[in-house]
Amino acid sequence: MAKRFKSDLKHSDVTPQKHFLNRRNLIIGAGVLGAGAVAGTAFGTLGAKPAVAEGALDLTPNTLKEISSYNNYYEFGASKTDPAKYAHTLTTDPWSVKIDGLVEKPGTYDLADILKNADLEERIYRFRCVEAWSMVVPWLGFELASLLNRVGVQSKAKYVAFETLFRPDEMPAQKTSVLDWPYVEGLRLDEAMNPLTILASGLYGKELPKQNGAPLRLVVPWKYGFKSIKSIVRISLVEEMPPTTWNTVGPNEYGFYSNVNPEVDHRRWSQASERLIGGGIFAKRQPTLKFNGYEEQVADLYTGMDLAKNY
Ligand code: MTE
Repeated sequence: MAKRFKSDLKHSDVTPQKHFLNRRNLIIGAGVLGAGAVAGTAFGTLGAKPAVAEGALDLTPNTLKEISSYNNYYEFGASKTDPAKYAHTLTTDPWSVKIDGLVEKPGTYDLADILKNADLEERIYRFRCVEAWSMVVPWLGFELASLLNRVGVQSKAKYVAFETLFRPDEMPAQKTSVLDWPYVEGLRLDEAMNPLTILASGLYGKELPKQNGAPLRLVVPWKYGFKSIKSIVRISLVEEMPPTTWNTVGPNEYGFYSNVNPEVDHRRWSQASERLIGGGIFAKRQPTLKFNGYEEQVADLYTGMDLAKNY
C-alpha cells in the first residue's frame, strides 16, 4: 500500500471551518447509498473537527482565484478563461452517478447519498497540466477506492471508465465537434484503487467551482491533468482498456497512462519543466518531478513497464 505524505500545513490554514459547516448542512438528511453501504463516516465530525491534511505534500496552495480562473474544460470552450466565464450555466443539483459494469451493486446513486457516506478529507496535491503549468490545490475529496469497495468490484474487472455529463444545452461546446462527446477517461483498476486517487467534491473547503468540475471530479495527482475528468455521471468497471478522449484525439501525444514524466517529451514540447501558476511572468520555471513528486507512492504500480512506450 502506498505511503502517505505528512504536511506542515495545518488544515485551518486553508479551510475556514464555516465552509465545512455549510457543506455539512447541505448533505444532511440525504439517504443511504445502497444496501451494505459502509456505516460511520467522517461527516459527523467535519463541522466540529476539520479533517486532516493527510496525503499532502509540503506545498503552499495556489489561491482560490488562481485555481478557478485558469482552467481546461472544453465543454465550455478551449481557452483557459472560458470555463470561468461560461460554466455557471451548468445545473449541478440534482446530480446522480451511474455505477455499472462488473460490480456487485450496480445502480444510479444520488450524489448526496454518495457524499453522505464518504470519508471526506482535505488533501493538498500538486496538479500538473500537460501544457507544462502546475498548481497546488487543496481538494476536498474521498478515496475512489472507498466508493468502489462499497459497490463491490467483481474479479474480472481490470479497468475503470469514467464519463462526463452530456448536456449540450448547458455545455455549449458540446454542440461543436471540437472533441468527441461525452468526455471520457479511464484508469487501470490498481491505479483507481491507489489511496492517492480521489473523487473531489470541493476545494478550499467549499463546493467545487463549476469550472473545476462540480459537483464531482476525479483527481489523480501523479498523472497529467487531463486524466482528472470533471462532472462525472458514470463510472463503469470493465475488462478491456477503455477509450479516453485525448488518446482518441491524438494517440501520438496522449497515451492511456499519462504519468507525469519529465523524461518523456510531449510530441510538440518538452515536459522537463513547468511554470507554477501565480508565480508571475518573471518566475523561474521549475523542474518537473517524476510522477509529479509522488514517485515513492506510485512507482511500484509500473514495475517492469517501459514508461517511454506506455506514456
Ligand atoms: N474534464 C472534462 N469533462 N472536460 C475537459 O475539458 N479537461 C482536463 C481535465 N478534465 C477536461 C476535464 C484537463 S486538459 C485538465 S488540465 C484538467 O481537467 C484541468 O482541471 P482544472 O481546470 O480544475 O485545473
